[in-house]
Amino acid sequence: MTKKILITGASRGFGKLAVELLIERGHEVVAALRGGSERGDALFSESILRTGRLHFIDWHAERTETLKAAASWVTAHWNGQLDVLINNAGYGLMGPLEGQTDAQMRRQMEVNFFGPLNLTRECLPFLKRSQGRIINVSSIAGLAGFPFYGAYNASKFALEAISEAFYYELRSSGVQVALVEPGSFRTDFSASTEFGSPGTPENEPKIEAFKKRMDTRRSLLSGDPTRVARLLVRLCEKKKIPLRTAIGRDAALMLLIRKALPDCWRVELTSRVFEKIFFRPS
Ligand SMILES: NC(=O)c1ccc[n+]([C@@H]2O[C@H](COP(=O)([O-])OP(=O)(O)OC[C@H]3O[C@@H](n4cnc5c(N)ncnc54)[C@H](OP(=O)(O)O)[C@@H]3O)[C@@H](O)[C@H]2O)c1
Repeated sequence: MTKKILITGASRGFGKLAVELLIERGHEVVAALRGGSERGDALFSESILRTGRLHFIDWHAERTETLKAAASWVTAHWNGQLDVLINNAGYGLMGPLEGQTDAQMRRQMEVNFFGPLNLTRECLPFLKRSQGRIINVSSIAGLAGFPFYGAYNASKFALEAISEAFYYELRSSGVQVALVEPGSFRTDFSASTEFGSPGTPENEPKIEAFKKRMDTRRSLLSGDPTRVARLLVRLCEKKKIPLRTAIGRDAALMLLIRKALPDCWRVELTSRVFEKIFFRPS
């Protein structure tokens, strides 16, 4: 059955790939992206645009008025019908917490946490009516903490918490909630990662080494982002969906470590890996 789907962060990465697959599968999609149709028309192929099933709205995660405009669009154009909301937009604020400003931290939470929370609230009346579903793109960094990931970890841990709460709260209304937990995948994510200042001089070489390792890891170890896009499509279409789905080799390894090791060993292992690999000058 074809569905009406609203997805955020549809300009590139997982979001854009998912939109292309969803249109191929016959669904109707409203792609929420910064720049709306002016930008969207230039990003997608003629064959996709010609279907007439792809629509655009100008959407900025941290601007409340655009969240409300997204809900108004669904009311005006789809008569309040919405089957799936995919909260995908996000970015990473990395580096030592002591070097990040309050404004940087708040923006990280606005985009990765308050954006999805508030858009979900706006869309709930539609989703309850359709007994639809909410799919939140979290991260393996929403399940385990890492040094230099503190801000990003915080935003994704918070997204995990509200997703699980929504899972319980919406169960009786028939709305399903799913979290996607990707490991590392080859999108523009690393390129759009923001860093605070080093905070202290000893952090400077660590940040340089960390950035280099991120680049190497991205080119050598990261997975094909189409896998995540295909998972998003499956979660839109499958009848019953699980609360959490991890994807990627590093995500599977991290989950295995979490299950197999006591927490004190896991944090010791994480600390050694970062000191010996990520923070060691090359
Ligand atoms: N790639 C990975 O390895 C990985 C791993 C785990 C989780 N994730 C998560 O997957 C999701 C998608 O990331 P990706 O890998 O596809 O990265 P990406 O290629 O950098 O795409 C990020 C998307 O989010 C949008 N976005 C960022 N800030 C926004 C804002 N303030 N308002 C509106 N849109 C905004 C971007 O729009 P613009 O084009 O306008 O900037 C873009 O469409 C994110 O939530 C990320 O945390 C990614």
